[in-house]
Amino acid sequence: MNSSLTNKAILLTGASAGIGRATAVALAQSGANVVLVARRQERLEALVTELAAYPGQRLAMAGDVGDEAFAQTAVAETVATFGRLDVLINNAGLGHRSHLADMPAADMHRLWDTNVMGLLYFTQAAIPQMKEQGSGHIINISSIVSQRPLPNMGLYCASKTAVNFLGRALRMELRPYHICVTTVYPGRTVTEFGDALLGQKGANPSRLARVSADRVAQAILKAMHTGKTEVYITWTDWLFAHGNRLFPGATDWLVERIASRRSTGHRA
Ligand SMILES: NC(=O)c1ccc[n+]([C@@H]2O[C@H](COP(=O)([O-])OP(=O)(O)OC[C@H]3O[C@@H](n4cnc5c(N)ncnc54)[C@H](OP(=O)(O)O)[C@@H]3O)[C@@H](O)[C@H]2O)c1
Repeated sequence: MNSSLTNKAILLTGASAGIGRATAVALAQSGANVVLVARRQERLEALVTELAAYPGQRLAMAGDVGDEAFAQTAVAETVATFGRLDVLINNAGLGHRSHLADMPAADMHRLWDTNVMGLLYFTQAAIPQMKEQGSGHIINISSIVSQRPLPNMGLYCASKTAVNFLGRALRMELRPYHICVTTVYPGRTVTEFGDALLGQKGANPSRLARVSADRVAQAILKAMHTGKTEVYITWTDWLFAHGNRLFPGATDWLVERIASRRSTGHRA
């Protein structure tokens, strides 16, 4: 067991599936106290039961991250139960597959409320406690596609770019209070993300490599120990991000080519 997480109080959003669930398991295996947030209560309760075998305590808090009052309640409950809040992991997220021209306003609001407003509400709720403690770590789960837009995912990509910029601004604002801010950029990961998409649901037909949710979870735990501010999961993700910055025209060409092969039935 990694004893440095023993007695730590960690608030994790999006804990009922995918990367969040894998992170909850890894944190419990390290002995951390974890407040598990998502909308599906039965899943959270089953996870609390499953993780009871590990040292530390887990608490289920069902609610929508896009509800500001819920964010305040979740943080207050964390502090009431564990006396502190060491790490906030803003992981809850939602994607879409649709042309921007066709996206219903209700879907646009739902995606933005989850990916951006939810992160802001939980972050704002957590900061006063972290300032009072004189320490804290906020870990935001972005995406490699925040580095450049992809067709049919435009609003999702933009929401994750917002996550990156908010993280960088917060990092500077919170440094004097010894609060660290990390942004994690997963690439394609095996989770339920494709099933939950707004618009056209279903698995992404791309042949691009996918990593396991456990691998992303391990990278999140490592960042907790190292305090690294920008985390890529694979070297190809890093290359994609930095290559895009150096050669934006070439990556546009590549992405458009892959997208058009997909729409003509070829697999990328
Ligand atoms: N999978 C990928 O390829 C990939 C790649 C890059 C980045 N990411 C990012 O990684 C994060 C986790 O995604 P995932 O792949 O693990 O997807 P997932 O398997 O669909 O899990 C998403 C989690 O977010 C929760 N959630 C969604 N909307 C919520 C809301 N309004 N309020 C509270 N909880 C909500 C879901 O729980 P409930 O439905 O129970 O509320 C679930 O626990 C997201 O931020 C995503 O953008 C994923």
